[in-house]
Amino acid sequence: MLPIQQEFLARRAAHCVDYAALPVTTPCYVLDVDLLQLNAEFIGQIARAADVKILLALKAFAAFAVFPAIKSAYAGTCASSPDEARLGYEKFGGETHIFSPAFRENEIADYRRWCSHFSFNSLRQFHQFRGALADRSLGLRVNPEQREVATALYDPCRAGSRLGITAANLAGADLTGVAGLHFHNLCECNADALARTVAAVEQKFGDLLPQMEWLNCGGGHHLTRDDYAVELLIATLRRWREKYPATLYLEPGEATALNGGVLVTEVVDVFENDGGVAIVDASAATQMPDVLEMPYRPQILGAGLPDAQRYTYRLGGPSCLAGDEIGAYSFAEELRPGRRLVLTDMAHYSLVKNNTFNGIRLPAIYAYEKGAVRLIKKFGYEDFVGRLS
Ligand SMILES: Cc1ncc(COP(=O)(O)O)c(C=O)c1O
Repeated sequence: MLPIQQEFLARRAAHCVDYAALPVTTPCYVLDVDLLQLNAEFIGQIARAADVKILLALKAFAAFAVFPAIKSAYAGTCASSPDEARLGYEKFGGETHIFSPAFRENEIADYRRWCSHFSFNSLRQFHQFRGALADRSLGLRVNPEQREVATALYDPCRAGSRLGITAANLAGADLTGVAGLHFHNLCECNADALARTVAAVEQKFGDLLPQMEWLNCGGGHHLTRDDYAVELLIATLRRWREKYPATLYLEPGEATALNGGVLVTEVVDVFENDGGVAIVDASAATQMPDVLEMPYRPQILGAGLPDAQRYTYRLGGPSCLAGDEIGAYSFAEELRPGRRLVLTDMAHYSLVKNNTFNGIRLPAIYAYEKGAVRLIKKFGYEDFVGRLS
């Protein structure tokens, strides 16, 4: 393991916070700025070692109040819509890259204001807009047809995918004005998946690579995970840097905020129905949608698998959705109303995806930094009603 990774992991392991004891109102997200900064520093070190530029994928993490703590590690942001692009341009700065499955003509002027780099999902759209965007850096999203993600919902290389132009569909096309290629086929992947993808891209699009000004390797690189093979990532990217003149980009989202925040919730009621049930004040359906969408089981500090400890409960949220369940967890002590639970790794994809179904209020957002906690934002009735009429 490289010394930069050893140091990163040691510093992260040494960072211990009793989030349940913080003076916050529940439910709330607590963004741990110390940990977000640690992730960003490490990502910046990887960028320098691999000689690549890194963009923050705003789709995963866009809590702009903490951007000042992380942005020096990044060359800019990548966005998926005009509003996200504007957020990146105004609140983060640097380069703003945009990919859209289909750009709408009436949004192009907005995109021109905010974005430096465009990736088109079809040749038709590239040909349609290359004139209007001649002063921007334009590229194509290609589909390497390299499947690396088991969950079809998150696999851009699934059969018949609507994302990226395949090599067969690119053959013989007029590529005048193409400055870059973008590919994205990973989700929570290690560096071996990138190495295989890079080989697939070379095999399918190798004739284009020497002429490109930039190559964007997309997101899904789980850089800040304990077992991430940083050396392989750096070796893979360095090989491309030596072979081709292009600037290389990675646009990780999740890795930026991995383990960078928690959701603190409180038990509201406890009863029995074929085992213990605890209703908490946080909802899987509205405040951590990936628990149901992915689906996955969040970790809860101090809790174990069902029956691993003395008291087991199915934890459910306050919405009317029958399946608004976080999962079954065991605890050493009986759960009672008022007990606080800390769900880990909730900074990425939770804040950006949450919603107000059932009128359930959005959780407050706090920042924890150097021993102190401060409120970033509290939500109210206006935030619910303002979206409805
Ligand atoms: C084009 C593109 N870039 C970057 C990302 C960020 O991926 P992750 O958050 O898994 O790193 C995604 C995620 O879907 C994406 O579609």
